[in-house]
Amino acid sequence: MAQRKENIVMFPLMAQGHIIPFLALALHLENTNRYTITFVNTPSNLKKLKSSLPQNSSIHLREIPFDGIAHDLPPGTENSDSLPFHLFPNFFESTLSFKPHFRKLINGLIDEQNGHKPVCIIADMFFAWSAEIAQECGIFNALFVGGGSFGFACFYSLWVNLPHRDSDEFLLPDFPEASRIHVTQMTKFLRLADGSDSLSVFFQKVLPQWMNADGILFNTIEEVDKIGLMYFSRKLGRPVWPVGPLLLSTGSRAGAGKEYGISTELCKNWLDTKPCNSVIYVSFGSQNTIAASQMMQLAMALEACGKNFIWVVKPPLGFDMNSEFRANEWLPEGFDERIKDSGQGLVVQKWAPQVEILSHKSISAFLSHCGWNSVLEALSHGVPIIGWPLAAEQFYNSKLLEEVIGVCVEVARGMNCEVSTENLSAKFELVMNETEKGMDLRKKASEVKMIFKNAVRNEEKFKGSSVKAMEQFLDATLTMKKAQKEED
Ligand SMILES: *[C@@H]1O[C@H](CO)[C@@H](O)[C@H](O)[C@H]1NC(C)=O
Ligand SMILES: *[C@@H]1O[C@H](CO)[C@@H](O)[C@H](O)[C@H]1NC(C)=O
Ligand SMILES: *[C@@H]1O[C@H](CO)[C@@H](O)[C@H](O)[C@H]1NC(C)=O
Repeated sequence: MAQRKENIVMFPLMAQGHIIPFLALALHLENTNRYTITFVNTPSNLKKLKSSLPQNSSIHLREIPFDGIAHDLPPGTENSDSLPFHLFPNFFESTLSFKPHFRKLINGLIDEQNGHKPVCIIADMFFAWSAEIAQECGIFNALFVGGGSFGFACFYSLWVNLPHRDSDEFLLPDFPEASRIHVTQMTKFLRLADGSDSLSVFFQKVLPQWMNADGILFNTIEEVDKIGLMYFSRKLGRPVWPVGPLLLSTGSRAGAGKEYGISTELCKNWLDTKPCNSVIYVSFGSQNTIAASQMMQLAMALEACGKNFIWVVKPPLGFDMNSEFRANEWLPEGFDERIKDSGQGLVVQKWAPQVEILSHKSISAFLSHCGWNSVLEALSHGVPIIGWPLAAEQFYNSKLLEEVIGVCVEVARGMNCEVSTENLSAKFELVMNETEKGMDLRKKASEVKMIFKNAVRNEEKFKGSSVKAMEQFLDATLTMKKAQKEED
């Protein structure tokens, strides 16, 4: 008789940047053939997810009710993706209402299985309250951080300590290894935080609860992200498991609610006509955009440096992100026609097949907001990064990439900073030309690509660091289960 598969329950925050890595982890665990997966989220997020699951996947989707209106969110809001910034505090607070529903859901699952418990609950980094429910039921509980450990170590330390109130530049009191942080590397929410605002109250409540987890999984690679892992290990006294890079294949990602503004084939054909290492790929991710004035300077810089480019555009700050892109208003006059005629660039609306682009030999650099999924995709393909972090922990991802790993040059910070055509275009040339810096970045990036490859190698004689970490995590869940059986 086949051995019964153990069930793992997973519950990410309702945001694309969280759901995507959770789904990648879910598919990875399912592929081991040892686990069934129960994926928990709100109804509309599950509906979107359903269409993106591979046909052969048997991941179970379980709904948890959510009433955004009760938290002053616009009707129908179940995801942070199109949420205006000022509503983020409400959005985060609203997630605390999940607790009783999640408790009921877990108890229901146990009942359905005649008392057979899930082997583990993997919850979002913002849902550490789930540990209490897991402990009541005697279930192993881990948190999964879809981002890097350095980025979130800075994020964690900043929110818990709020060290920015005395000076513009400072060391983190419990994380000096991160070196100095400047206030321009903080989001507006964080800069204004003083411990009494609703986001400080939320984060200072949920972040220390990480200590209640049985361990923390990170979507990162030990070899390039050690400092942050050491921080959490020291701070929490809990095991940390770097199990990345967990990425979705293009097929699943396309379905994860995204619509391509260009076909993969067209994109590839265009790239095929360009020389090796000659194209800069520009994208600020699904949730962010830049200011109208910055967009204008960026367009002029791309044109001025003469490099080929693919640019995924979105309406600038202050406009509806889902509205039609108005090239004649937001880009320099005649820009669209000029670059089309010269063949210099491709302007793509909405979303582009990013993995296909990054894996193409014509790509030389990625101007990115340094969101972690984008970072992992770039580094998996050995593409150096030109950093323009915009939000959340992206500032510290950019810092790690530039100061520690050496695969990035930062060109701008945030949606309010002033940028000039000359400075941007000079940086693009620095990175893409055969300059010493440019060659060094490409060399480092190709070394990191090998490190990433090795981390997930799983052979009889060699197990990569991420493979080992995943095994340690799964062993830990089973050890707990066995210990309980012996008690029973
Ligand atoms: C589903 O199909 C893909 C591609 O053929 C394969 O890699 C994967 O292991 C399959 N998953 C399951 C759960 O059978
Ligand atoms: C452009 O670069 C120069 C020299 O590094 C600097 O002094 C200036 O402030 C920069 N301007 C902008 C708008 O970033
Ligand atoms: C980069 O190359 C272009 C064209 O080959 C050249 O005009 C420009 O001065 C170079 N820039 C740098 C910073 O080397």
